[in-house]
Amino acid sequence: MQAWIATAQDVRRAEVPEPTLKGGGVLVEVLAAHLPAYTRAVVRGNRGGLPVPLVLGPSCVGRVLDVAPDVFHVEPGDLVLNTALLDAGGGDEILVGWVGLGGSGAGSARTDRMRSVWRDGVFAEKALCAKETLVKLPGAETYPEPARLAFLPWLCVAATGLHAAGAVAGRDVAVIGATGQLGGAAVLTALAEGAATVTAVGRNEDALGRLAKLDPRVRTHRLTGDRATDAAGIGPVDVAVDTLGAAPSAEATMAAYDSLRVRGTLVLVGGVREELPVPYGDLMHRRLTLRGSWMSDERTVTTAWHLVRSGVLDLSAIELLTAGLDDPAAALDLAERTTGLGFVALVP
Ligand SMILES: NC(=O)c1ccc[n+]([C@@H]2O[C@H](COP(=O)([O-])OP(=O)(O)OC[C@H]3O[C@@H](n4cnc5c(N)ncnc54)[C@H](OP(=O)(O)O)[C@@H]3O)[C@@H](O)[C@H]2O)c1
Repeated sequence: MQAWIATAQDVRRAEVPEPTLKGGGVLVEVLAAHLPAYTRAVVRGNRGGLPVPLVLGPSCVGRVLDVAPDVFHVEPGDLVLNTALLDAGGGDEILVGWVGLGGSGAGSARTDRMRSVWRDGVFAEKALCAKETLVKLPGAETYPEPARLAFLPWLCVAATGLHAAGAVAGRDVAVIGATGQLGGAAVLTALAEGAATVTAVGRNEDALGRLAKLDPRVRTHRLTGDRATDAAGIGPVDVAVDTLGAAPSAEATMAAYDSLRVRGTLVLVGGVREELPVPYGDLMHRRLTLRGSWMSDERTVTTAWHLVRSGVLDLSAIELLTAGLDDPAAALDLAERTTGLGFVALVP
């Protein structure tokens, strides 16, 4: 079969043997996989170490072909979402086929073992997935455009971040980095879940304009780089979700912190590479909550899927671009140029 094999500095298409079933495993036909905008940075080693060589790819929508005898929650023919997250407990977590380790992020002998047993991801025609990474999508067989469902993993990550602040219905929510794919997913989810207002915050004016057209509840704020000005433009809000990419400054995140109402919550979901200067007394007196959120869980996947299935969250708001496995370099270029309310789905 065809697959994308990542080596130390590169990703190539290669002909590889089809995976064979093993204990705890599910053989999946990959229908569509989200190609994150920053995949090139991942391949170049700028986002942490990959256990190379491996089949790259963190998450997909697929059809179950076969299951190991110890797998009971899915069966051949089911449509499933692969979340990539394999959690051994105690902070030992890996993303199969991708960068990122849970807990302190440093990894352990146990995560090394996990990565050697469950190494390969989903940018391939077929994938052998650890059963824990799969959640069934009841009714997805009749969804008209399965490639569009490749955006579900980002919706699930965004929904998990939002839910870390409690229910958003009737509350004012801000999404920092709303012009990115995770941010776009957070805006769509907050709207679907009944936020009173959603303030979309980012640099890219065109992307902010597209978000504003989604719903009258969307407000926008274009980041100025000045913390006080940005805080005044963002808030006051009850919930701020930070979905920024690898920004080299914490100013926008701290502007979101400043914009919170008393008892507000700031959730960190993005990839900012800076320390946050959070003042002890201010956090205490304003009774703020600071939460982190990583990936998603089965319950949130099911919720996000039901929002989509019911039409409450309409994925037609997203621009879908597709690429095959044949030319990884061209697909990575396309993904890098595609962000905001657009994404690239790899369709093997
Ligand atoms: N916690 C989790 O579970 C989880 C899961 C998946 C991904 N992530 C992280 O989420 C981050 C975003 O992912 P994505 O798919 O949304 O990426 P993306 O589509 O590339 O979006 C990146 C966003 O960050 C903004 N940005 C980048 N550099 C900036 C800077 N210097 N100042 C201000 N804004 C800046 C971009 O703004 P412009 O539009 O103005 O360029 C855009 O809004 C990634 O870093 C990823 O590692 C976290």
